[in-house]
Amino acid sequence: MKPLEIKPNVFWVGVIDWNIRDFHGYSTYKGSTYNAFLILDEKITLVDTVKGPFFEEFIHKIRHIVEPSKIDYLVVNHVEMDHSGAFLQTVEAISPEKIFCSEMGKRALLQHYHRSDLPYEVVKSGDVVRIGSKSLHFIETRMLHWPDSMFTYIPQDRLLFSSDAFGQHWATSGRFDDEVSTEELMHHAAKYYANILLLYSPLVQKLLASVRTLDLAIDMIAPDHGLMWRKDPPAIIEAYDRWSRQVARRKVVIVYDTMWHSTEKMAKAIAEGAMDEGVETTLMCLKSNHRSDVVTEILDAKGLAVGSPTLNNGLFPTIADFLTYLKGLKPVGKIGTAFGSYGWSGEAAKLIAASLSEMKLEQLAEPLRVQYVPGDDELRGCLDLGRLMATKVKETVP
Ligand code: FEO
Repeated sequence: MKPLEIKPNVFWVGVIDWNIRDFHGYSTYKGSTYNAFLILDEKITLVDTVKGPFFEEFIHKIRHIVEPSKIDYLVVNHVEMDHSGAFLQTVEAISPEKIFCSEMGKRALLQHYHRSDLPYEVVKSGDVVRIGSKSLHFIETRMLHWPDSMFTYIPQDRLLFSSDAFGQHWATSGRFDDEVSTEELMHHAAKYYANILLLYSPLVQKLLASVRTLDLAIDMIAPDHGLMWRKDPPAIIEAYDRWSRQVARRKVVIVYDTMWHSTEKMAKAIAEGAMDEGVETTLMCLKSNHRSDVVTEILDAKGLAVGSPTLNNGLFPTIADFLTYLKGLKPVGKIGTAFGSYGWSGEAAKLIAASLSEMKLEQLAEPLRVQYVPGDDELRGCLDLGRLMATKVKETVP
């Protein structure tokens, strides 16, 4: 795909990674993009680079517009290697006069690429660099989601380069939000938030507050992954506000795995109970659903039931994986419950309950355990648990 002019003299020069399917544990079943931007002005400026293996494609795209050696400035909004993997090759190709980055960005670049001889120019929030008719305004966004992260804003174009924020892992031929299905776009954006940013939600709230204070006029948000927002940038900002406040809906997610279908029978009975109460319910077996899709469903759910058979006196491995992942993402304000079948020792449901407690989820009931295969009475108990969860969800979600 050729470079694309997204604003006068501002070009998308990113690359599309159609084939990536795993992004450090996040299922990218529709690929991703690594966005970078070239600004033609008195000082020609490149904003971000791309993942290392895409360097040739990236530099070829830049050559469509300008000879790389004519680029004056490089802005590094974020050092994670999906954006800086091509950093050294790019620096070699363009020999920039200045490399703008945050203080933590400089430190991270040194720790990644071990080149102290490069012309780093550390910037902080509020700093402005004039590049001709346009200017670059820097806004540090520490821990969103790395210490080095920052935004770059061009007021003349009302254009915000938002690094990872507002991004989505989605490889498409469209580059803008108005070229794709809004529903699918928001799903990918929610998945990105749930898996990459959820744990930093308090910082997202602070950032949104400071962006409101700055009163930035924004016509377009250009993240480093996926589609750019030009049709309705406030829509994604509002979604980030909602997700970072962890606003829940009347929805129950039941996550489980199973050995001989006993825990599955329990999960289905719990789901039936919740559905009987008219609450939206999603049942997700970890044999069929990736952890990153499960946490996407959990993002706006009030109720969470987790079930595991006991294996070797412990959790089923997929459930241990899922709980470790979920704990790291720090969900808040949910109602949880644990269940599971067992043969003789029965630790799994208790371990789930302990894990949910560590995550500070409100526990609805004692862990529900069934020895071997649930009978009618035990399945009625599961049904009642589902009803109880749904009732509690309806009571607590307006
Ligand atoms: Fe897209 Fe944090 O890298």
